Formats: sequence, structure tokens, C-alpha cells
Amino acid sequence: MIRRLLSARRLNGKIIRHKMIGYFLDGTSFLCAGLLALELRFDFAVPAIYFPRMKLALCIWIVTKWAAFIAAKLDRGGWRYTSSNDVVRIILANSAGSLLGGLAIFHFLGVWAIPHSIFIFDWMLSCMFTVGARLFVHVLVNDLSLQRGAKGEKSKVLIYGMGAAGLALLRELHQNTSLKYDVIGLIDDDPSKAHLIISGKRVLGTGDDLGKLVRKHLIDILLIAIPSATGAQMVRILKLALDAGVKYKMVPGLGDLIENAGLGKQLKDVAVEDLLGRRPVSLDQDSIRKRIQGKVVMVTGAAGSIGSEICRQIARFGPLALVGFDEAETPLFQIDRELQKTFPDLTFHAEIGSITNPDTLQRVMQRYRPSILYHAAAYKHVPMMEKHIFAAVENNIFGTWNVAQAAIQHGVKDFVLISTDKAVRPTSMMGASKRVAELVIRDLQKESDTKFVAVRFGNVLGSNGSVVPIFKEQIAAGGPVTVTHPEMRRYFMTIPEASQLVLQAFSIGKGGEVFVLDMGMPVKIVDLARNLILLSGLQPERDIAIEFTGMRPGEKLFEELNLQSEHLVATSHPQIKSYVASSVVTQRNIRAYLKELQQISDERDVGRLLLLLKELIIDYNPGSNLLRAALSNQSIHVESAQNPKLGVQSQSALQSKFIQAAQAD
Ligand SMILES: NC(=O)c1ccc[n+]([C@@H]2O[C@H](COP(=O)([O-])OP(=O)(O)OC[C@H]3O[C@@H](n4cnc5c(N)ncnc54)[C@H](O)[C@@H]3O)[C@@H](O)[C@H]2O)c1
Repeated sequence: MIRRLLSARRLNGKIIRHKMIGYFLDGTSFLCAGLLALELRFDFAVPAIYFPRMKLALCIWIVTKWAAFIAAKLDRGGWRYTSSNDVVRIILANSAGSLLGGLAIFHFLGVWAIPHSIFIFDWMLSCMFTVGARLFVHVLVNDLSLQRGAKGEKSKVLIYGMGAAGLALLRELHQNTSLKYDVIGLIDDDPSKAHLIISGKRVLGTGDDLGKLVRKHLIDILLIAIPSATGAQMVRILKLALDAGVKYKMVPGLGDLIENAGLGKQLKDVAVEDLLGRRPVSLDQDSIRKRIQGKVVMVTGAAGSIGSEICRQIARFGPLALVGFDEAETPLFQIDRELQKTFPDLTFHAEIGSITNPDTLQRVMQRYRPSILYHAAAYKHVPMMEKHIFAAVENNIFGTWNVAQAAIQHGVKDFVLISTDKAVRPTSMMGASKRVAELVIRDLQKESDTKFVAVRFGNVLGSNGSVVPIFKEQIAAGGPVTVTHPEMRRYFMTIPEASQLVLQAFSIGKGGEVFVLDMGMPVKIVDLARNLILLSGLQPERDIAIEFTGMRPGEKLFEELNLQSEHLVATSHPQIKSYVASSVVTQRNIRAYLKELQQISDERDVGRLLLLLKELIIDYNPGSNLLRAALSNQSIHVESAQNPKLGVQSQSALQSKFIQAAQAD
């Protein structure tokens, strides 16, 4: 505390010292301007009669010009940072000070006391001296620091891109000599910019000349300054850099830029997210803050990829408290530590428990009384859930039911279910279970005051167990990288992007909606694999092989994000659409279905489970492994396929039911 006070006092002292020097130099400029104006007017032979009048006039001008400079806040900026904008302000302040001073002189000495040309000379000289003094300091300080910085070892760099980011980067690298980059030149794909010279640096060519330029100038690093580049553009630049054998870094997207920190300090390695070329999300921060600030927010699955990022995003909006609920102890411990470190003012309660245990949920909600709940706890791995179908039912369906029931009982106002594109025309137990979870909350909306919304989106890059970490491991091990099918495509977004849009969707939700996030264009998984290999500085196929392993149970070639039977409605946010069901899909109340589902689950009856899901979700297409298990009652890995209660007769009854259900599709 004392140290902070002392350093604050030191800082204040320094600011005051700088201001006093500034006032002194400006005052000297005003004085010199007035004297020189007088001397010039009389060709350096000033009649003695003018001395007393000029003394008073000079005092008046100094006071009025100082006042104008203070009013224009020209005493606040450091002289070494003088810009063209400042020059305009200096001229305006001089004009105001001279005019005011002139009026005062007329008032005290009379209109004809001093020749009028002196007023004009004084104004011109005053502008010249005050601007000149600042530019002199600007040049002097920058040159000195350039010389100081030049002493250290610097990397030779080329800047790729002459847009606003490229020029800002060039300017900063020129001024900030603590950054160890020596800019050799610029490159831009627009040939009309060839040979331009900007801040003393030449445009040396286009991207296609990169290899030649790297060899000629012995370039160490390529600085990519195109934050708005599309994925395809980034992949091209990456390939050019790899072919040229030069290291590369890029300026972050505008969304990632930290206020007031220069571009040069934020140069980062290119990540696979940059190759997706997604535009940064623009959020209506105010509407999100209004809904979150000062509230207790609970997140289930808080230790997972999505849940933990939702916690990070919520923490920025000043909740009263954040409750992170998860059954996984170590990851929960980690997010607890991370949040404490990053957001020291945040009240975070890490609560261990399972959503399959209603008592634990009741206890936690009773204790913290959250008013907003994000439900992200779920089992999500498709092939795993095809083998553990009742675990998917228990966790994703009954877990959601438990959380929703506890939320209603404890007066939660807003409930957000994190859903997935795999819930659309599901072909897997994971997708089907999430779809039923959506139906559960939609049904509960009818009978409670809690606002329920679901948010669906496709894959997020880099989440636990997703393709990116798996590919990275495979590349690190020397390959091969395994892809299930050459045509396999998925929608991708980044975890922060998805989580931010989830918060935004919640802020526009009125209850009962299923929101769908704009996932952009689907990406071929094999392209993602190739790009990751390139990012590792290796060549696909030559250094790392790509192998196709065949599709796994429950997997689709493409994921869809909407249903035909539902209507697309635009929302206030361009990247969020709302799907409103055109008709109620189910004939029975959801409670009746869940009751039957519980019984089926207890009996581990695969066949009846599939039939019930088929009735509930008409476009559900179970995987062939599951169908085979249900029809033949043979044991695949499904934990329950050997159901002693299912006799031969009931099997054939089941078969005919399936055929009927399939025909009804
Ligand atoms: N990761 C993606 O690409 C992606 C894309 C779209 C939608 N989603 C959806 O988001 C949700 C979360 O996915 P994720 O990627 O964060 O998964 P994740 O596995 O990283 O996280 C899930 C978290 O939920 C917890 N959890 C699971 N069962 C629980 C239980 N019974 N009680 C308490 N906690 C439990 C886990 O411990 C884990 O921490 C899933 O519903 C998923 O379908 C994920």
C-alpha cells in the first residue's frame, strides 16, 4: 500500500515536472514570437515609443495563449507523441489566444496603439514556434531512442499487408524500439502498391515474391498484418511462408486486441483458428451486462470446455457470484484457480456433484439461489455414447430434467441449455439424447415461470477430445493423422466465440426458443488436418501421412443446424437465429415419455428405448449397430443388449414396429 502511494506520488511529481517544462517552453515561444514580430515590423529598428506598450501586449498574449492551450488540453499530451491532429489543435489554440489577446490589447491600449501587422506576424510566429518546438522534441526523443534500440540484436522482418493494421504495425515498430524487429520492407498482393515508399520503407513486391525477398534480404520473420484475412487467404500466406522457409507471426484480430496495448506487443503465432477466417463476434455488451451484472449465475459442466469458457466470459460482466458445478474434481479445481487468478474480484464457488443426483442439485441451488443457470454438463462423445446408450439417457436426458426441476423449484429466472448440431436429425444416441433434452425444457416452459432457452451449435475448435488436440498429438508422434472419411465436413467455431454468442443468445431470449449460432461454412476435416500439419511447419503427405479409417457408428458425413419442420426467425444479432417449432412433435406429455423412459432404462431394454425415441423424435435414425442389437438382441458393446425380458416373440413384434415406424418417416 505504502509502496503504491509512493510510486503514485513519484508519478504525479513527474507529470507536474513535465507540465511545468511545457508551460515554460510555450511561454518562451509566445514571448519570442511577439518580440520577433515587433522587430520584423520595424526592420530591427523599433522606435522607443513602442517598448512600454509592447511589454503589456506581450504579457497579455502570454496569458491568453496559455489559457487557450490549457483549454485545448495541449498541456496534457507528451510532446514526443505530437501528431498531425495535435498540430491542428495547436494552430487553433494559437488563433484563439491571439484573438483574445488582441481584444484585450485593444481594450487596455486602444485600437491604434500597436501596428496591426504585428498581430498577424505574432500569430504566425507563435504557431511556428509552438509547433516547431514539439516536432523538435518528437524527432529528438525518437531518434535518441532509435539509436539506443539499434544497439540490441534485431530480427529482420517483412510486413505482409498494407492495410490499416500493416501501417499501424510499421509505425509502431519504428517508434517502439524495445521491440526487436528491423523492418526491411512491406509486401502487398495489390500490384498497384508496388514500389510505394511508406515511412521510409518500400513495398518490395507481392506474396508471390516472398521466397525471392526472403533469400535476398535474409529475412528472419514474416509479420502477417491482415486481421481480416479469410481462411483461404491465411492458408495461402502460410504455404508461401513455408515454401520460403521463413518464420511467421500475425497481428491478432481486432476482437482480440487489448485496448491501448500496441500491435507490436501482441504479435502472436498463427493458430488453427486463424485459418478458419471467422470474423470476430460483435456483442451487444450492454444487453448482456444488464442481464448478468449483480446476479448469481450457476454453470453446470463448469469444468468442461464450453462450461469453463462460459464462466470466463460471465466473469467479465460482474456477476454477484458464479457457481461452477461439475463432477470432475481436478478440472474443477483448475478452473477455480484460474478464475481466482484472472478475476480476483469474482466470487466463485466450485461445487462438486453430479446432475444425476437431484439431492445434490437441490442442496447447491438452495444454498446459492442462482437466478441464471447455464446447463453445459453432458456426455458428448458420439462413439462412446453409442456404446453406453443408457449413460447418455441418464446424464443428458434425466440430468437435464433434474437440473431444470431444481431450477424451477428454486426460482431460477433464466435457464440456458447448451445443445448441439448433433441434435438435428440425430443419427446417434448422443444427438438423440440432447434433442430429447431440448424437448424436455421446451415442455417445461409451458408450466413454469423460468425462461428456458436452448442454444445449438456445431463443433468448437480445441475442446476436450475434439479433432484438433487429437491431430496435434498424432503430428507430434510423427503421424499418421487419421481422418474417418475424405468428405467428412463439420461446422467449427472457436470456444470463446461460441460462449460469447451463447451469452448474447440468452440476453435476447424470451423463453421457449431454440437458438442456432451461425457457424459459417462447414470445413472439410481433411483440410483441417492438412492445415494443422502445415502449421507445424511440415508438409502433408510428404512428412506426415493422412489415413482414412472409415466412419464410426452414429457419425454423419455432414451435420445440419436446423430442422425442416421448424421456422427460421432472425434475431437482433446477425449471428444468432431462432428456430421456432411449427407444431408440437409429441402426442403425449413429456412426463409420460420420461416415466416410460425411466422404466425402459431400469430394464436396460434397447429395443423399446429406440422405439420410444423414434416416437419422440420422428427424424431419429439410429445407427445400424444399435438397430442390430435391438432387433437380434445380441450383445454388441451396448451395456444392456442381453435383456432377458425380451423374448423371441417380443423381438418379432419389435421388428414389425420398427418397420412401421420407418414407413411412417
Ligand atoms: N465441444 C464441442 O465441440 C461442442 C459443440 C457443440 C455443442 N457442445 C455441447 O456442449 C456441451 C458441453 O460440451 P464440452 O465440449 O464442454 O464437453 P466437456 O466434456 O469438455 O465438458 C462437459 C463437462 O460436464 C461435466 N459432466 C458430465 N456429466 C456430468 C454430471 N453427471 N454431473 C456433473 N458434471 C458432469 C464433465 O465433467 C465435463 O467437465 C455438450 O452438451 C455438448 O454437446 C459441444
